[in-house]
Amino acid sequence: PVLVVDFGAQYAQLIARRVREANVYSEIVPHTASVADLLAKDPAAIILSGGPSSVYATGAPFVDPALFEAGVPVLGICYGFQAMAAALGGTVAQTGQREYGGTAVEVTSAGTVLSGSPASQTVWMSHGDAVHAAPEGFEVLATSSGSPVAAFEDRTRRLFGVQWHPEVKHSPLGQKALENFLYEGAGLTPDWNAGNVVAEQVEKIRAQVGSARVICGLSGGVDSSVAAALVQKAVGSQLTCVFVDHGLLRSGEAEQVEKDFVAATGVELKVVDARERFLRALAGHTDPETKRKIIGREFIRVFEDAARDIVEHSDDEVKFLVQGTLYPDVVESGGGEGAANIKSHHNVGGLPDDLQFELVEPLRTLFKDEVRAVGLELGVPEGIVWRQPFPGPGLGIRIIGEVTAERLDILRAADVIAREELTRAGLDRDIWQCPVVLLADVRSVGVQGDGRTYGHPVVLRPVSSEDAMTADWTRLPYDVLAVISTRITNEVPEVNRVVLDVTSKPPGTIEWE
Ligand code: XMP
Repeated sequence: PVLVVDFGAQYAQLIARRVREANVYSEIVPHTASVADLLAKDPAAIILSGGPSSVYATGAPFVDPALFEAGVPVLGICYGFQAMAAALGGTVAQTGQREYGGTAVEVTSAGTVLSGSPASQTVWMSHGDAVHAAPEGFEVLATSSGSPVAAFEDRTRRLFGVQWHPEVKHSPLGQKALENFLYEGAGLTPDWNAGNVVAEQVEKIRAQVGSARVICGLSGGVDSSVAAALVQKAVGSQLTCVFVDHGLLRSGEAEQVEKDFVAATGVELKVVDARERFLRALAGHTDPETKRKIIGREFIRVFEDAARDIVEHSDDEVKFLVQGTLYPDVVESGGGEGAANIKSHHNVGGLPDDLQFELVEPLRTLFKDEVRAVGLELGVPEGIVWRQPFPGPGLGIRIIGEVTAERLDILRAADVIAREELTRAGLDRDIWQCPVVLLADVRSVGVQGDGRTYGHPVVLRPVSSEDAMTADWTRLPYDVLAVISTRITNEVPEVNRVVLDVTSKPPGTIEWE
C-alpha cells in the first residue's frame, strides 16, 4: 500500500481518499509508528500528511531521518514537508508570517511532482513556519511570497515535498501533483478499483469463514447491504440475513430490501415483522431520548431472538456476524483491530454472552464512496447504493410527539412526495438528506376545498453536508419547494401546512429529535 502518515490534522483521510481516487490503494498510519513499523507494511510509497504542530513546538511529531534512507519514495505535505526538510538538514524558519487559503505560487522548475503545471498557479496553504533552505541534494521547484521554498524534490532519492495541500479541491492542480508523485515519482500503476476490491474481499471472506454459517443484520442502508452482498458472493448459501421490519421505515424501503435486494443478490433473507411490537413499546412516549432508547432496545431484542433462532435451527455452527464497519470508523477508533471490534460490536448493540460471534467486516478498508462503487459492481440496486443517510430509529424520531400507526402513515405519505419531487428535479446527489418531520401535536387552521381544516404541519429539512457533523440548509429552488408543498397539502388530507427549516447545524441538529 501507499502509507499516509497521519500527523494529527483532518487531512490524512482526505489524502488517503485522493490516492485511491488515483486508483492506488492507500492506508492511514499514526505518526507514532516507527520506521520499522512502516517498513513492515512493505509500503510502495509514503506520504507525510499535514498537521497542526510547528516543527519547533515541544513534543512536535518527529520524523526519523532513517525513513528517508529506506529507498521508499516519500512525499511530504505541509507539516510533513517541513518535518522532512528539518530531518534532512534544511532550514525551517518561524517567520510568524502565516499563509492561509488560496495562495499564488511561482513554479521555477516543474520537476516530477509539478510536471504539467503552469508557471504560476493557485494552491491552498495553511501554515505558519516556512522552509527557507532546502536540504542538500534537493532542487527547489516553487516559491510563494511567504515560502521561499514551497516545493522541492530529490529525484535520485525519490523524496518530494510541497508546502501546500494538494489533497483539497481548492488546489485545482492538486490531484495532478499527487498523481505525478504516485505514477512518476514512485512508479506505481493505477490498478486499484472496485473490481479488484471485490475479488480480494471475496478471497479474504472465504479464508476467514471456511464452511461455517454466517448471519448479517440488514438495515436497508448502503453499508449493511453492500457488506451482505459481498459475503453472499463469497460464501453464498452459508449466509442468512435478518431484516427487522420495525415499521419505522419510509414508503417502499422494506419492499426494496425484501424484493429488489434479494432478487439482485440472491441472499437468503429472514424478515421479522416487528411492527406491532415497536408500536406497543412506543405507545404513550413523547420524549426524544426515551423514544430512541425504546427503539434501540427493541431492535436488539428482536435481532437477538432471530439470531438465536437461526443458531438453534442450523445444522452447522453459526460462527460469524457480518458488520458494515467502514474505514473512517476504524481510523477514528485507533486503527487497531481490537479497538475497532469493540466499537463495531456496539453497532448491533452488543449481543448477549450466549451468542458469541466473530465479526466479518469486509468494508473496513473502504470509504463510503468506495462502498458505493463496490455495491454497483456487485449489482446491488441503485436505489440502495445511492440511498441518503437515514437514522436507525427511522421515522420514530421524525414524528414529534407520540408515534402511532396513523401518524406513521401520514408522514410516509408526505415523505414519499418530497423524495419523488427531489429525485425528479435531479437534486438527490446535491443534498445530503432531506428529513420530512411531522409536528404531530401541533395543529393549525387552514382552508382546503370549501372548508376550514385544522391539520398538522410537516417540516422539510433539506441539508447539505460533508460528514453530518456540520450542515447548512440547502437552498432548494422555489419551484421545487412549491411543487412539494402543493402536492403534500393536496394528497395528504391530514396535512394543511408545509414549512421549511432554514437552520444550519449547529445550532440545529439534522434530525429534530
Ligand atoms: P443529527 O440529527 O445528530 O444527525 O444532526 C446526524 C446524522 O446522523 C443521522 N442519525 C442517525 N443515524 N442512528 C443512525 O444510524 C441514529 O440514531 C441517528 N440519529 C441521527 C442523521 O440522519 C444524520 O445523517
